[in-house]
Amino acid sequence: MERVKTGIPGLDELLNGGIPKGSNVLVAGGTGTGKTILTTQYLYNGAVQYGDAGLFVTLEGNIRDIAWNMESFQWDIKSLQEQNLMTIYRLNLGHLKEKSMIEDRIEEQLLEIEKEVKEIDAKRLVIDSTTVFGAYLDPSILRTTLFRFCDKLKDLGCTTLMTSETQPTKTVFSAYGVEEFVSDGIIALYFTPPNRSVFVRKMRGTKHDADPHPININEMGISINARDKIIWEAIK
Ligand SMILES: Nc1ncnc2c1ncn2[C@@H]1O[C@H](COP(=O)(O)OP(=O)(O)O)[C@@H](O)[C@H]1O
Ligand SMILES: [Mg+2]
Repeated sequence: MERVKTGIPGLDELLNGGIPKGSNVLVAGGTGTGKTILTTQYLYNGAVQYGDAGLFVTLEGNIRDIAWNMESFQWDIKSLQEQNLMTIYRLNLGHLKEKSMIEDRIEEQLLEIEKEVKEIDAKRLVIDSTTVFGAYLDPSILRTTLFRFCDKLKDLGCTTLMTSETQPTKTVFSAYGVEEFVSDGIIALYFTPPNRSVFVRKMRGTKHDADPHPININEMGISINARDKIIWEAIK
């Protein structure tokens, strides 16, 4: 089986070599647990170490803030953008007031994402974060719409990480239930003072590690200490 290496120290080890190619993997965690850093680093490493172009789709913040945030690490995002190895795209769902148009807008935005993927022949895709959909969609259509959105992403042929801004427990990993149902894998991030930690909950098509491990964030990004384990009791 072909695998896509994240290049994040320790993570590929937990995944028995990397993410199965073409998977759609959910990265779940509370605010500040490192979801945006981890997913950015996945794209950055992809471009620099493996020559894979990557598309970062943000539903939070503006593009300048995101580029700025990325550059607070030792990652030269600008040069990757110039070489067509990375694109940052701000998903535009319009104004919250125009809720009735939302399904059309999502279809439109899926076409935009497809266009951006084709433009640089992206192999890696990030959606950060899926939780923002909740602000735009009525609960009655949220699940079916989110399901369709995630499902269509699979057709793009990329290896995708999508984030979910939620405090995962040992058994619940997404804000709306749909995201974890649609995804092939789940990587959960936790605050487990004094550390942050990571746990691979599932990964279709591969063996994977089954324990939470401590993670460290510094100016090089995230690294995982695969040797040490976090005790289960530290997680709610
Ligand atoms: N250079 C750095 N060194 C150490 N920690 C950092 C650095 N940059 C950011 N962080 C930590 O990472 C956190 C943000 O991570 P982020 O990926 O944005 O979280 P999330 O997307 O899950 O909300 C910050 O709150 C901060 O604690
Ligand atoms: Mg974030």
